[in-house]
Amino acid sequence: MNMKINENFLNLSENFLFSLIAKKVKQYKEANPTKEVISLGIGDVSLPLSKVVVDALVKASLEMGVKETFRGYPPEFGYNFVKDAIRKYYLKNSVDLSLDEIFVCDGAKSDLGNMVEILGDNRIIIPDPVYPVYVDSNMMAGRNILLLEGNKSNGFLPMPDGLTLEESVIYLCSPNNPTGAVYSKEQLKVWVDFAIKSKSLIIFDSAYEAFIRGNYPHSIFEIEGARKCAVEISSFSKLAGFTGLRCSYSIVPKDILDGVFNRIWGRRQATKFNGVAWPVQKAAEAALSSEGLKACENNINYYLYNALMIEEVLKKNDIYYTGGTNSPYIWMKCPNNMSSWDFFDKLLTEANIVGTPGVGFGKSGDGYFRLTSFSTREKTIEACKRLDKFFKEMK
Ligand code: MLT
Repeated sequence: MNMKINENFLNLSENFLFSLIAKKVKQYKEANPTKEVISLGIGDVSLPLSKVVVDALVKASLEMGVKETFRGYPPEFGYNFVKDAIRKYYLKNSVDLSLDEIFVCDGAKSDLGNMVEILGDNRIIIPDPVYPVYVDSNMMAGRNILLLEGNKSNGFLPMPDGLTLEESVIYLCSPNNPTGAVYSKEQLKVWVDFAIKSKSLIIFDSAYEAFIRGNYPHSIFEIEGARKCAVEISSFSKLAGFTGLRCSYSIVPKDILDGVFNRIWGRRQATKFNGVAWPVQKAAEAALSSEGLKACENNINYYLYNALMIEEVLKKNDIYYTGGTNSPYIWMKCPNNMSSWDFFDKLLTEANIVGTPGVGFGKSGDGYFRLTSFSTREKTIEACKRLDKFFKEMK
């Protein structure tokens, strides 16, 4: 066959990070069926949806079976009631958005990947380590990627020092996946000023903002000037446990390129996406109601307590780590200078715990490992016992 394919795909690693881990874990479980494996790997929530969300979901689903309340295609950018709920959620941090800057979608992963399509061939700046979707989706488009090293000395929060003033697309994630590090207001101001000066765009991933407990910005739009140079992508997955329901939103200010960026993002979405299901949008609205937000808060506090327990084990065993306090992720140095994958194998086979190898998030992540606090309390307690014993035996 002479059919041409997009050869950029051939430059990607064979498997997406989390698919590779799932494969390895499945193989291990098949070979060791009696072992009780605990996953502190992919950041998937374990607590069920809150009652207010389920009630909204059930009510809206029943409406779909009644002639008078049945709904067909949803508005392509989301119902105004969800956009209005998102608008009010942002107003709590004094960020005022207009409804036509908010696009409701089925997941931050889709939005982050799809946005590459409406961008031309710019320099792409991506902190390393980082959520692998940014690098993979830009590689698929054959883009030129400049990785900015995150390390112990910059607290895994790379800054634009030393970058030339060239139009670029800059990806920032705060609280960061995988390191849990959080940019301060001052640091984000430096990035925004750099983006304005270099005529660049920031794509800000705020999927984990609800975990912030300290005095850090929840949104890039809390930073003066950001409306001129930034878009933000966020999700109900980690805020309200929607990993299985699927609902996200992107915020594209009209100030960018005199409204052109907002218009073409809408054009892209209208052509390739048919909107989020009515019951899911009603559930998203419920998640942002005052009762819904209280439930979100309780669940996030539960996960943050799990994180605290994991942090305690690391502290006790003198292991360097970041994250946890404002994030569901704990980013630890592998003991004895082990590589990320060697540590993954050892932890899986000896303690029956699954984590995520740091190198899967970029080469600066090698020698590091990510643990998540999204498991249940019972499993986290058991995992902490096993981790403590495991680290002691490694000494
Ligand atoms: C993660 O574990 O990094 C996330 O759960 C993956 C995602 O949000 O797609």
